[in-house]
Amino acid sequence: MSKKSDKVVNLAMVGCGGMAGAHLGGYEELWRKGEKRFRITATVDEVEDRARAFASRIKQNMGWQVATYKSVDQLLNHHAALDGADICSPHGLHHVLACQLMEGGVNVLVEKPIGITVKASKKIIATAKKCKKVAATAEQCRRSIGQRTIHWAFNQSALLGDPRFWFAVSVNWQDPAQFPNWHWRVDRKLGGCGMVMDSGAHWVDTMRYWFGEVESVYARVEQIDRRPHRKGDKLVHDAREDFWTSILNFKNGVVGNWSWTIAAPGKGFTQLTLSGDNGTLVDSDIFHPAAFQARGECQLVDGTTYSMTKLQQLYLKTLSKKQKDCLFPYGITNGTHLELWDFIDALSNGRQVEIDAEEGLRSKAISEAIYESGVSGQVVKVAEVLSGKVNAYQRDVDKYWNL
Ligand SMILES: NC(=O)c1ccc[n+]([C@@H]2O[C@H](COP(=O)([O-])OP(=O)(O)OC[C@H]3O[C@@H](n4cnc5c(N)ncnc54)[C@H](O)[C@@H]3O)[C@@H](O)[C@H]2O)c1
Repeated sequence: MSKKSDKVVNLAMVGCGGMAGAHLGGYEELWRKGEKRFRITATVDEVEDRARAFASRIKQNMGWQVATYKSVDQLLNHHAALDGADICSPHGLHHVLACQLMEGGVNVLVEKPIGITVKASKKIIATAKKCKKVAATAEQCRRSIGQRTIHWAFNQSALLGDPRFWFAVSVNWQDPAQFPNWHWRVDRKLGGCGMVMDSGAHWVDTMRYWFGEVESVYARVEQIDRRPHRKGDKLVHDAREDFWTSILNFKNGVVGNWSWTIAAPGKGFTQLTLSGDNGTLVDSDIFHPAAFQARGECQLVDGTTYSMTKLQQLYLKTLSKKQKDCLFPYGITNGTHLELWDFIDALSNGRQVEIDAEEGLRSKAISEAIYESGVSGQVVKVAEVLSGKVNAYQRDVDKYWNL
């Protein structure tokens, strides 16, 4: 385990909603397993009761006295000696809060997607450079044991051989009339848009991790079922797509087909198929494949089959103790808990994180290339989305945030 330094880092949790609860569970596991190089000293939420509920859970489970604040302004004005902030806010606030915190001298871990647009992500990167702060993307999936195993099966071992192509297809039905509560995600200025960039952020990062950079994208992105949702006596229009189909051309020649809909009334299915020269791996999740549990199986050209559990055992056998301590410290295999450990260890040791904001931006650009292609009807080069040359889809969100 990388423990050159015993420096203890003081953290604030900013945004104490759903995902922050999973982060808190991760901090609790790290603490229980013996990671003592961090303290949570502040919680921040504009709904202060949420910050207070987190503070009392922290006091109960880790014994720390935690200050609570309603805003990052208050935090920066009244809270001393902060090393890092863990931001779990709506997407549109990622760059606002991250930049404010870094300008205030605090390193940041920002939930995916790093920024609401490419420009917002670049602002985070520029501020990190200017303020000499760490800006990390909280992206857990590639760190999970299932995804590390698949990376190994394609890239380090000859098991699956050179990757050829993949199909990730999910065809399901969700009745807009039954959608849960109105939420910031339905507002493009706060959410950015739908699953291409929300849960899709995990898949684009995973694809880059397994297969390298994407050169170009062709996509159709639609909202097929345009009925509004009902919230009490209000009708709420949702900006998010309920259908996309996309072709992704990787620089190494791999081709991917990523298609998703919740506008298919009736019985649905979800399937992921990853093929290499020597075999094919099948799973049943197109956003977090193999991330959280041992699902799926692999069949080789000679007929041999491996469950994901078996494949994971084969992978783990190849790792030295030092590699295991680095990838799965304290034996932890939950990607979210590992991303928090990476942030703590990086701040404690003054090293870089595995997935910094630049890495987050490269993944983000693929999601945006899909939207941009949906708007233009053309094949879109990811490099042109990264450079800002192609940005028609993101323009109104950038304008709203003065980017
Ligand atoms: N990695 C994952 O698997 C995963 C899963 C779900 C959500 N997320 C990400 O986590 C982030 C938060 O999503 P969520 O589902 O937890 O949303 P949420 O609405 O449950 O939580 C957001 C919280 O931020 C608070 N907030 C809003 N404005 C604020 C401000 N200015 N200052 C402080 N707090 C503020 C809200 O009151 C709320 O408590 C998003 O980036 C989302 O994409 C990641």
